[in-house]
Amino acid sequence: MNILKPALSELRAYPTLERNQAIKLDSNEAENYLFEDGFQLNVPFERYPDNHARDLKKAIAKTFQLEDNQLLIGSGSSEILEWLMKSTVEKGQTVLTAGPTFVMYGFYAKIHELHYLEVPLNEDFSFNLERFLDALKKENPRLVILCSPNNPTGGLIPKEAIETILAATDALVLLDEAYIEFAKDVTSFVNRVNDYPNLIVTRTFSKAYGLASVRLGYAVSNKTIIEALTLSKTPYNVNQLTQTIGLAAIQRYGEVSDYVKTMIERRERFKKGCLALGLSVYDSHANFIFLKNSYDLFEKLKERNILVRPFTFDQPYIRITIGQELEMTQTLKVLKEILDEAK
Ligand SMILES: Cc1ncc(COP(=O)(O)O)c(C=O)c1O
Repeated sequence: MNILKPALSELRAYPTLERNQAIKLDSNEAENYLFEDGFQLNVPFERYPDNHARDLKKAIAKTFQLEDNQLLIGSGSSEILEWLMKSTVEKGQTVLTAGPTFVMYGFYAKIHELHYLEVPLNEDFSFNLERFLDALKKENPRLVILCSPNNPTGGLIPKEAIETILAATDALVLLDEAYIEFAKDVTSFVNRVNDYPNLIVTRTFSKAYGLASVRLGYAVSNKTIIEALTLSKTPYNVNQLTQTIGLAAIQRYGEVSDYVKTMIERRERFKKGCLALGLSVYDSHANFIFLKNSYDLFEKLKERNILVRPFTFDQPYIRITIGQELEMTQTLKVLKEILDEAK
């Protein structure tokens, strides 16, 4: 029996791969460096969590020079993406983004029966502002999503392009900064939200903080938008365990900054190694690199117990998460073996 509504007949489940590979580089996770010695939780399990995550909001606000009333906390930034779609976009209205990009945008749009459109990136996956502005005029979207750094390609949308788009539309603009910590010398828009009536920035604890399992993300916007969205919040959406761990993590933000520096260096070293092997690698500003899947790399890496994420657009590609140092040295070694065999 098909119990899903007809609009979901072609829905594809979000792909998650098996977790038992020796080296898992498919989901842009990081190592648990903040709490590697464990975490002492003292949480009243019998009580509902703080519905508005007040302590956590205060700590995040303090860390990034914001006001508490500029924040929404979500069970992962994915929850906030869906929250925005279901409470601000009516059935059939347009959500506009640039693609290829994060597959969950299209997934949530489909569930809520929204018209989802991806403006193609350039052939080298850089952002095409002119094309995007044309689409903005023609499609009159209700919601615009900009993902920078972009998943899975790793590219940035230039600051000026984001500013131009914000000035060109009255639609809500969601700027997804899930990977912003890994973008060297790039300033987040979180401190610019009061300059615009329509900007919402989302960020996550899943990537740079190494806390993907905790499910914690947040949105930053102006007070008016936050107030409106708070009305449609699912009660108790973020559990108390998550709030407690998040609070401890944000209080150690200095360590996050240090970790990110190491990761950026590791990414650039790994990229150089791939280039030296003759692979086609794109510039990345995130904790992964994106490359052409030449020589069946996905399958051959998998045979050797290294799990990466495959994509097919005009041709096949793979995305390799930057993991621990040893994992990356091993992956590079295996890539070399695969390529030597193929020659
Ligand atoms: C671009 C982008 N945005 C948002 C997310 C969602 O992250 P989370 O729900 O774990 O915060 C991801 C996860 O991979 C992502 O790649």
